[in-house]
Amino acid sequence: MPKVTINGRECEFKPGQVILQVANQLGTDIPQYCYHDGLSIVASCRICLAEIWMPDAKTGKLSPYMGGKLMPTCQTQCQDGMVIYTDSPKAVANQKAVMEYLLINHPLDCPVCDQAGECLLQDYSYEYGRGQSRFEETKVKNPKKDLGPHVYLYADRCIMCTRCVRFTREVSGTAELLVAGRGNREEIDVFPGQALDNELSGNVVDLCPVGALLDKDFLFAQRVWFLKETASIDGITASGDNISVHHNEGRVYRVKPRVNMSANRWWISDEVRFGWKFVHSEQRLSGPRRRQFGVAVGADWTRATAEAVEGLRRAVAGGKRLGVMVSPMLASEEAFLLARAVLALDPKAFLAVGPVPVHGQDKVFPPDDPKGFKVFAEKCPNARGVRAVLEAVSRRSPHNGYVASAEQMLGQVRSGEIGGVILTGNYPSPWASRELVEALGHSGSGPFVVCLDTLAGPVSDRADILAPGCTWLEKSGSFLSARGHYQHFEQAIPALDGTRAEGQTALALVAAAASPGGEPALYNPANVRREMAEFAEELRPFLAEVVVSTVGIEQQADMEVVEV
Ligand code: SF4
Ligand code: FES
Repeated sequence: MPKVTINGRECEFKPGQVILQVANQLGTDIPQYCYHDGLSIVASCRICLAEIWMPDAKTGKLSPYMGGKLMPTCQTQCQDGMVIYTDSPKAVANQKAVMEYLLINHPLDCPVCDQAGECLLQDYSYEYGRGQSRFEETKVKNPKKDLGPHVYLYADRCIMCTRCVRFTREVSGTAELLVAGRGNREEIDVFPGQALDNELSGNVVDLCPVGALLDKDFLFAQRVWFLKETASIDGITASGDNISVHHNEGRVYRVKPRVNMSANRWWISDEVRFGWKFVHSEQRLSGPRRRQFGVAVGADWTRATAEAVEGLRRAVAGGKRLGVMVSPMLASEEAFLLARAVLALDPKAFLAVGPVPVHGQDKVFPPDDPKGFKVFAEKCPNARGVRAVLEAVSRRSPHNGYVASAEQMLGQVRSGEIGGVILTGNYPSPWASRELVEALGHSGSGPFVVCLDTLAGPVSDRADILAPGCTWLEKSGSFLSARGHYQHFEQAIPALDGTRAEGQTALALVAAAASPGGEPALYNPANVRREMAEFAEELRPFLAEVVVSTVGIEQQADMEVVEV
């Protein structure tokens, strides 16, 4: 493999790679502002410039490349034998000059800037800048601008790297942003009468290397050094996008993309970025409830579980069937445990997948680009996983693989065939149809209802037993995405008081069904996946193919080098 030497370190490269990509892959520090793996290369910030030497084809003697002028490492392709210095006096002098230039008009507002602590300008000032400013004139002041529903521009912090402009042209394809003016009056703006309002707009905040583009939602919400990060998976849509959840003291503050080249690459949609708010909704259910003389009253988990088992058993004893409707918002492991729990009480129980919300059609950004970023119309993370698990369990029951849809389950409830049902929700917004609520009727006259849900709604109001569940950020498990990826997600924040994972409630039902007051096992998705693989051959991929973490995934550049 051909090699280059960067700051004394010999590195192999793939033909076509630019010097900066090779350095980034090997963790060799070269400062960079305008370069991003997912965007075209413009080489405009000039901080990555290096001194380059090339061996003579005949003698092998090193001579200055391109007459010895400094070259942008983000735009210069590697050639075998190149010797590159970003730490030579000439390269360091350039870094200092660029930093001094960028800081001339930059306000000294780090103490109130959201980006402080994760700002490349701060980091490079420390590593590559001068100790003092020589600028004595008045700084140019630019106004703050409201660019769109999610983004503010603090224009005087901008260093004109144009990452945001390129994103809207190359990735979202919406092209709302432009560079207006020239020289020290140059600034980022939206086209007149247009707002930065596209489904991927939040990505420009991640792209901005300084605090110029800010997330309205996160503005002054938290200092970044207090935040802890947990790797997770999109729990709102079927995309399986890899996300990082930023939280502190049990509260989520923001969600950012994690790079996964086979899924979301560097981006996420605004829906995934901001869709987690229901986790802290005031409508969250908390504390189990049971019915006493027709009125819902608080109960402890043991009593609520015991009465749930008792009520479901009564329904079977009355000659009716049980049913479970597993929400596609739940983890595959939870679907398995819920199916096993209901079959332990009634071997002929019906299994069904809950409503699968679909809004319109899948969208691609930019439109019609086969390599574009896809926003999925299916607004639940695990419809495929839940269905596959229920089918495997049902294949080993008298129903021989039959898994009902939410509508079919509704029909069975209406027909009076079902005497007891476990209904699960966990959707970010109200989910139960009017028909379902009507079919459930009133407690005492309709079927016995055990509800596992997160937000209050007509089904939780109707429930005979209510067991509040956890959102995906408060538990762990795995989802099977529309892209076919089996991915594990970790618990990011502690479960809200009075709630527990639906998988844990299922285990409690199994234990109570086996013996009154039985101690349930602790819900551990890894153990459940092992159990699933032993239970059915077709469930082995849930163990063998599940990806627990994507740390270390190779980042590949997506865009070609462009001429400037
Ligand atoms: S706003 Fe941020 S991303 Fe856009 S050009 Fe300025 S510094 Fe770059
Ligand atoms: S990273 Fe901006 S010029 Fe290379």
